[in-house]
Amino acid sequence: MRAAAPAPFPLDDAPLLDARGLSFAYGPQPVFAGVDLTIGRREIVCLIGASGCGKSTLLRLLAGLAEPGAGEVRLHSEATGNSSGKARAAAASVVFQSPALLPWLTVAGNVAFGLDFACRAKESRTVQAARVNKALAQVGLAGHAAKRPQALSGGMAQRVALARALARDPEIVYLDEPFSALDAVTREAMQDLLVELAHRRQAAALLVTHDIDEALRIGDRVLLLAGHPARIVGEWRPDGRAPRLHRSAALNALREEILDTLAAPAAPRPCIHST
Ligand SMILES: Nc1ncnc2c1ncn2[C@@H]1O[C@H](COP(=O)(O)OP(=O)(O)O)[C@@H](O)[C@H]1O
Ligand SMILES: [Mg+2]
Repeated sequence: MRAAAPAPFPLDDAPLLDARGLSFAYGPQPVFAGVDLTIGRREIVCLIGASGCGKSTLLRLLAGLAEPGAGEVRLHSEATGNSSGKARAAAASVVFQSPALLPWLTVAGNVAFGLDFACRAKESRTVQAARVNKALAQVGLAGHAAKRPQALSGGMAQRVALARALARDPEIVYLDEPFSALDAVTREAMQDLLVELAHRRQAAALLVTHDIDEALRIGDRVLLLAGHPARIVGEWRPDGRAPRLHRSAALNALREEILDTLAAPAAPRPCIHST
């Protein structure tokens, strides 16, 4: 009997996303340097840090929206088995703080936007419509497909943005403070939705947030970016299944530890603390 051909990557062992030695500068001053970061399959990683420390810039590099000055990002895509820029773009979706919906398109049209991009395999209109309907149903907006963005509340608009990301069936979703403009109740509902979708659809997520409580509520792992230039200075794995509805004493202690590290980041010393 002939042995099966080896897979291009050890898919079960390799992280989905593997970034090594990333550095970036907008001018002479580096924003961050020597950042290493991995994201596992089906993992929600929360990236926290003070305003201006480089979270959004790092997300853009990981998502392939900008090129690092040094280092490399590899996405071990199941769909393509390689990590070229095109494969990374095809396997990922990005959600920003503003839903950025196009006002002249319906809700369904906004969700479909991007399905025709060149990085994606060609699909029939019927297949695309099915994707849109499924994504709208998953975010609880099945009855709103024909509405215009102007007729939506802030929470509904952000759910449309999430549906647009999901319709692409990404292996990884990058979210940059997507819930920070929402009221507390809607924000928690959206966090729960993200956890459910990540676990049900088995997609990984990188959630950039400045909200430690949000990170501790839904993150499988929490990374802290800090310093000048910034690095990952701490890494924590909160116990228990997300979404964590009740704040345990252990979670409170973890929160204090993260706040202490944020206030006085020591020399870069990535470490894992579990509650
Ligand atoms: N397009 C840009 N040109 C020049 N500097 C920028 C640009 N975008 C961000 N910066 C600077 O880079 C640093 C990191 O920004 P950013 O990644 O947006 O941080 P964060 O998302 O953590 O708030 C900040 O000092 C910011 O002022
Ligand atoms: Mg930002």
